[in-house]
Amino acid sequence: MTLDNSPERRNDWLQSYWMPFTPNKAFKAAPRIYERAEGHYYYTSEGTKVLDAFSGLWCCNLGHRHPKIVEAIKAQADELDYANAFNFGHPKVFELANVVADQFPGDLNHVFFVNSGSEAADTALKMAIAYHRLRGEGTRTRLIGRVNGYHGVGFGGISVGGMVNNRKFFGSLLPGVDHMSFPYDPATQAFTPGEAEVDVEPYMRELEAMIALHDASTIAAVIVEPFAGSGGVFVPPKNYLKRLREVTKKHGILLIVDEVISGFGRMGSPNAATYFGVEPDIVTVAKAINNGAVPMGAAIVGKHIYDGFMDASAAGVEFFHGYTYSGHPLAAAAGLAAQEVFREEGVYAHAAEMSDYFEQAVHSLKDEPHVVDIRNIGLAAGVTVSGREGAPGARGNDVFLKTYEKGVAVRANGEHLAIAPILTSGKAEIDMMIDAVRAGLRATA
Ligand SMILES: Cc1ncc(COP(=O)(O)O)c(C=O)c1O
Repeated sequence: MTLDNSPERRNDWLQSYWMPFTPNKAFKAAPRIYERAEGHYYYTSEGTKVLDAFSGLWCCNLGHRHPKIVEAIKAQADELDYANAFNFGHPKVFELANVVADQFPGDLNHVFFVNSGSEAADTALKMAIAYHRLRGEGTRTRLIGRVNGYHGVGFGGISVGGMVNNRKFFGSLLPGVDHMSFPYDPATQAFTPGEAEVDVEPYMRELEAMIALHDASTIAAVIVEPFAGSGGVFVPPKNYLKRLREVTKKHGILLIVDEVISGFGRMGSPNAATYFGVEPDIVTVAKAINNGAVPMGAAIVGKHIYDGFMDASAAGVEFFHGYTYSGHPLAAAAGLAAQEVFREEGVYAHAAEMSDYFEQAVHSLKDEPHVVDIRNIGLAAGVTVSGREGAPGARGNDVFLKTYEKGVAVRANGEHLAIAPILTSGKAEIDMMIDAVRAGLRATA
């Protein structure tokens, strides 16, 4: 097909691709096409250079095209392109499981690979229900998520998730799901840097009441994000996750912590479980596991879960679940390289070091036009702007576009803007992103 570059036809070639979570019509009328990336920057088809202030989509924690990751993928493609994932293995997937498990606390020692955060969430939920059944507690099938939670877009994930638009179009979803309240009250927590010192017991009492209503013997698992990412970067109060662990444990309910965003350095720590000093039964990861270079996710489980499956089956398949591309050689090779870079370059420690500077920088936006709340943890921040009457999300989207015009890509989800710097960012990059958001806010009506 020859491209017609006339003003009326020049965007026709964009029509076949149905873009995910994107206003397709608006995008195709004014596209933003990344042609190349290097380090902290994207380069567009228009010839502009854009600072990536969102680590791709929370996944390129090391920036783009790190030479070690590029080299590892090339070498792997040259050696073994694909290995049947069922009944066969390849060395790197076993190695990566060890390297990943080593970063999680306690007994979280076994890694089930998948290809995305959504698959990781659905895998973890299925594991929880099957685990109870295998130990003779087959009545434990209920799942408890949280309002405004995000666990991807599979039917399991949207059922336990709590973002209304991701749920309302898709029927009755999974049965037997309940939702806890979102542990954030703007009246008392707005503009709080880091974790708020707010009493978490009302949230625990609510969970206890929910457990009493259904009876613990019907509940398989509680699933939460350690901090809400896609829902707008909201940070629970101090001790929330610790108390959630205590309450779930008391009732024999598994705790699944979705670390798809928080895993691999985002909080200046290997993961949120380590950061908060909590040992969940199952953790889900994806994205930065291999710096977003090849699709990959995983459910990491405690020894009791793994042993529960192994011990229940004398022979044969222990878990009737898996994907053709589970532990794909290219993804595993990229994973091993990324994990080596995290370690060798001290990336988690650098992110921790930059967190204070980032916190101050992002909170300096407090008095800018439209800003009604700012939150942060590690190298993640949410800035909420006031909505326009009758046009939900319009102002957030405008700030996103105006910021992009200044050469910086952040993300807007409704009225919430999210900033997630590449973890190797220094003060200069952070200043650049905050200056651009400031200019974006000022340029927005
Ligand atoms: C906490 C969390 N869980 C799950 C997912 C879904 O991951 P994916 O888009 O790879 O399916 C995301 C994506 O942002 C996420 O933030």
